[in-house]
Amino acid sequence: MLVTNFKTYSESTGENALKLAKLHEEVASKEIIIAVQPADISRVSSLGIQVFAQHVDAIEQGRHTGYITPESVKAAGADGVMLNHSEHPMKAWDVENAIKLCKKIGLKTLVFVSDLSEASDLKSYEPDYLAYEIPELIGTGKPISKEKPDELKEFVKKIKDSKIIPLCGAGISTGEDARIAKELGTRGVVVASAIVKASDPKSVIEELVNNI
Ligand code: G3P
Repeated sequence: MLVTNFKTYSESTGENALKLAKLHEEVASKEIIIAVQPADISRVSSLGIQVFAQHVDAIEQGRHTGYITPESVKAAGADGVMLNHSEHPMKAWDVENAIKLCKKIGLKTLVFVSDLSEASDLKSYEPDYLAYEIPELIGTGKPISKEKPDELKEFVKKIKDSKIIPLCGAGISTGEDARIAKELGTRGVVVASAIVKASDPKSVIEELVNNI
């Protein structure tokens, strides 16, 4: 599977988010998830691809201000949420509570981990997906699958006895990067800059999808 994290790039915000989402829809031969900013969810949610929120807070509905509740992203049309990205880290108990709240209302959860010990800790909360991303490699074009193959194998081994789907991200740019990630046991890749910043995003999406 391909997960494209739109992050907060101008190329993937507002009307540009819709354009980029449509390119994913055109390619969607395999499972594709796009993760957009909360304000863009309803803009892209009627396309034939899965939409995740980039983050939600572990907070119940009620007298709170300025938070993103799971219910709000679901109402906007999200299928799931990402949690604990290294660019938006959360305390472990917030991850646990956010997963519980999301499960209650049928939202899928994709949780990021930055190292093996975090993977061991957060695995017990049983998200649908765990994505291994080494922060130093993000946005560098140096793919985690080539830079840290042994760590990635170890990560896959760690969650093998669970139903959690292992993914990886950071620096993934080419079909070859994605293919190696698959050979190491992951079931898909999380990609941002290589797609969002590309002059021809559709061809990058196609190349990645054809190799996972
Ligand atoms: O969540 C995906 C992201 O952090 C990876 O970023 O730009 O290295 O693909 P990038």
